[in-house]
Order: sequence, then C-alpha cells, then structure tokens
Amino acid sequence: MGEMTESRAASVSSVPRNRAEAKQFYDRISGVYDILGAAFERRHAEAALEHLRLREGESILEIGFGSGHYLRRIAASVGTTGRACGIDLSPGMLRVTRRRLTKEQVSDWVALCNGDAVTLPFRGRSFDAVFMAFTLELFDSPQIPQVLNEVRRVLKPNGRLGVVSMSREEGQTTMLRIYEWVHRRWPKYADCRPIYLERSLIDGGYIVLYKAKAFMAGLPLEIVTASAGCGASGS
Ligand SMILES: C[S@@+](CC[C@H](N)C(=O)[O-])C[C@H]1O[C@@H](n2cnc3c(N)ncnc32)[C@H](O)[C@@H]1O
Repeated sequence: MGEMTESRAASVSSVPRNRAEAKQFYDRISGVYDILGAAFERRHAEAALEHLRLREGESILEIGFGSGHYLRRIAASVGTTGRACGIDLSPGMLRVTRRRLTKEQVSDWVALCNGDAVTLPFRGRSFDAVFMAFTLELFDSPQIPQVLNEVRRVLKPNGRLGVVSMSREEGQTTMLRIYEWVHRRWPKYADCRPIYLERSLIDGGYIVLYKAKAFMAGLPLEIVTASAGCGASGS
C-alpha cells in the first residue's frame, strides 16, 4: 500500500457494527426513515440519480433502497419495458418499500430482495446501471472493494454506477469533526461515515464519468457516476 493510500485508509473510521446489528437497527427505524431522510438527504440522492441518466427499457439495481423513494423513481424511469431491482439488508425496509411501490402502481416491474450487498444474488452482466445512496459508506473499509467488485460483476459492459456518499475528501471541516466524534461515540446510530468515494471507485477499476461535491448540513458529500468499462466481467 502506498503512503498516500495508507494515510487515506487510516483517516476513515472503522465500522464496529455487525450485520445482525445493522439489520436490527434499520428494521427498527424503517417506519420513520422516510421522515428522517427527507429533510437532508433527498435532494442530493435525487441529483445523483439524475446523473445516471436512466432510460426506458433499462435494467437497474438499487443497493440499500431504504424506504423505496428512489426505487419508485427508478421504476418510473425505466417503465414497463424495463426492470428495477432492489436489495436491502432490512426486511422492515422491504415491507415499507413494497407498500410504497404498490401504492404508486409500479410494483409489477420491480423485484425486491432481502440480502447483503457483499454477495449480490444476481447473475453477472444483469444490469445497465446500479445506484447507491448513503449506503456504500456503511461498509467497513475492507468491504468497500468487495461491494464494488460485486457491482462490477453484475453490471453489463460499460454499465454505469451512481453513488452519493459522505466524503472524507475535503479533509477536516468543523462539522465533519463534530460528526466523526458522534460516529465514534455512537457508531451504531450515526452509522454512515465519510469515505473517499471517487478514489475507491478508481481503485476498483471504474472510469469516473461525472463527479460533484455538495454539502449536507455542513457535511461534505461526493456524487459520482462511473462506468464499469468494457471489461466488466460477470460470471
Ligand atoms: C442510510 S440508509 C439509505 C437508504 C436509501 N438509500 C436512502 O438514501 O434513503 C442505508 C440502507 O442500506 C441498507 N443496508 C445496510 N447494510 C446493508 C448491506 N450490507 N446490504 C444491503 N443493504 C444494506 C439499510 O437497511 C438501509 O436501508
């Protein structure tokens, strides 16, 4: 590992929570997550989704779909000739999302599954694009490349990946310092933490197509759209 890579890795907090605890946490908040997420996160996630430029007839996967707000938009964008899939660790989130999709009458062409993004239960080269909002930064640092590899496996050649996450790239802003203190103290609750998103994608073999920075309540974010390249190799 180079010196720069090592210092980057050292500045990203670890994730002490295990999968069972994560699942339990998201199950508990699934009924109110929409209210919690609405104020701060939504406009940034919507901007990231916009940059994926979804087209009618495409096959799209969302990882960590939460209360299903973006999956509903994905389903509407690809239409009845397309396919929207979602995977989430929490059965509670899955129930909330299923209700939303049924109410919005888009559930017929959306498949939901309960599972862990570290091992995606899909065949290689299945999707035109994959979307992740405020989810990649929940994985511990050694797992981020595993998730990105899995995403590359399930993407078609030149498939796109759109991600919005909290960012460590700006260095230490005051808000970040406060947030990271909270994260270290209550990591099971303030569970997202800033990562080097663009760098992780480049290290994972992706080609960055678009990158933007934003702030959410003073916390730095990265929005990146990347291509898996023509060598995307699924099996
Ligand atoms: C911070 S929430 C974001 C939800 C949604 N993307 C949004 O922006 O509103 C993270 C979501 O990822 C899911 N999640 C956490 N760990 C996961 C894992 N290992 N595999 C799949 N989903 C996971 C959680 O259940 C939760 O729904």
